[in-house]
Amino acid sequence: MSNTKSGDFFVIKALQDGVNVIGLTRGSDTRFHHSEKLDKGEVMIAQFTEHTSAVKVRGKAVIQTSHGELYTNEAE
Ligand code: TRP
Repeated sequence: MSNTKSGDFFVIKALQDGVNVIGLTRGSDTRFHHSEKLDKGEVMIAQFTEHTSAVKVRGKAVIQTSHGELYTNEAE
């Protein structure tokens, strides 16, 4: 990440309406910088970038990363 503008991709698929994908800033100041709302069946493909180091997902969704696939608790 230090010499590139992009990192790993991840995929989020909403299993209900109104799933929120929230990007958090990289660096010493960690704050929300973007909130994307997905409706059921919508898919977001995104990357970790020089601006985004963490992502928070709210709602029922499937998340795929290079570390594996997981469901948010609400999907259990
Ligand atoms: N402008 C943001 C960035 O380049 C877009 C973005 C990338 C984003 N990955 C994200 C927004 C993950 C929310 C969640 O970092």
